[in-house]
Amino acid sequence: MNHMPNDASNESSPSNEAPQIFEHLVPRAREAAAQNGTTRIEIIRGDWVIRHAAVAQGLNVARWLLEGPRRTRTTGLLVTGPVGAGKTTLANLIKRSYPASADSDDEPIVMICMTGARHMRTVYGRILEALNGPVKATHHTADREMAALRLLRAVKCRGLIVDEVQDVLAGNVNEQRRTLDGLKYIMNEVQLPIIAMGTEGAAEAFRSDKHMDKRFDRLVLPTWSVGPELAALLTSVARILPLRRPSHLATKDIMELLVDETDGSLHDMMTLVRHAAVEAILSGSECITLGDLQAARAIPNMEAIDHVDDDL
Ligand SMILES: Nc1ncnc2c1ncn2[C@@H]1O[C@H](COP(=O)(O)OP(=O)(O)OP(=O)(O)O)[C@@H](O)[C@H]1O
Ligand SMILES: [Mg+2]
Repeated sequence: MNHMPNDASNESSPSNEAPQIFEHLVPRAREAAAQNGTTRIEIIRGDWVIRHAAVAQGLNVARWLLEGPRRTRTTGLLVTGPVGAGKTTLANLIKRSYPASADSDDEPIVMICMTGARHMRTVYGRILEALNGPVKATHHTADREMAALRLLRAVKCRGLIVDEVQDVLAGNVNEQRRTLDGLKYIMNEVQLPIIAMGTEGAAEAFRSDKHMDKRFDRLVLPTWSVGPELAALLTSVARILPLRRPSHLATKDIMELLVDETDGSLHDMMTLVRHAAVEAILSGSECITLGDLQAARAIPNMEAIDHVDDDL
């Protein structure tokens, strides 16, 4: 099936022909669509983020928290969602919105991961690591706490992102309470909003603590089902993937297939779309169909990817 040979690109158009504009794509994807196969496959396999409604809401709340004046009663945001719903993706997006400046040591957003961190001592250690601070194995919790808080102030940190926060549950009830108290202490002492990401277990842990419960806004990243939200998501995806022909992904058949195959997991749906998009370049079809997605569980052939531009 070679609907659209490689010579459809701007770069290889005969010089007397107007370059193709790829009007089905958003402007920045149009340029990408004119690139060779290797480059486009790299883009498809890379990190592209759709700012769907929950992501947009998360970014807005983050701005509200991070750009406001420091307040005595600092508040935070708890983002929950199932595995692969996009929690870490949103965390990275928030962090990237506040880049560190090249000519100072300021670090507007510090991001740590709670994986396996049952004690506040480890959490302070991770903050110090994130800031390249000294982490001595012998440091007692109090020393680390002082060092971490000092550094957070010194780099004018405006917000702390804590990923995988459900791992507080790995500790016993006392350890859990102490860790949550520790996070509250950081919020109070440095007047630092915390944006926490975790699975549903995290929501339970936060609910069990009256103060945390009151102070944290909630945002749930969805499990997707067939409907207008999914249609909007898929329409956005089709508009940014650098394929040269339009893909109509927001049809009922495609939505049903994706939801059935993945139980509505964003990660799994995007994996199928990525595979199908790469195959569309390899086959030259340059668009994704229902049939392509039905076959998209298989990882594309790497040899074929190596040779995608051989005919250019
Ligand atoms: N907004 C988005 N737009 C496009 N793709 C996304 C988006 N969010 C997530 N994804 C896709 O889902 C994958 C998983 O996302 P992510 O790692 O952020 O999920 P998570 O909720 O942190 O998962 P886990 O519970 O395993 O930590 C990403 O690699 C990406 O392919
Ligand atoms: Mg994650």
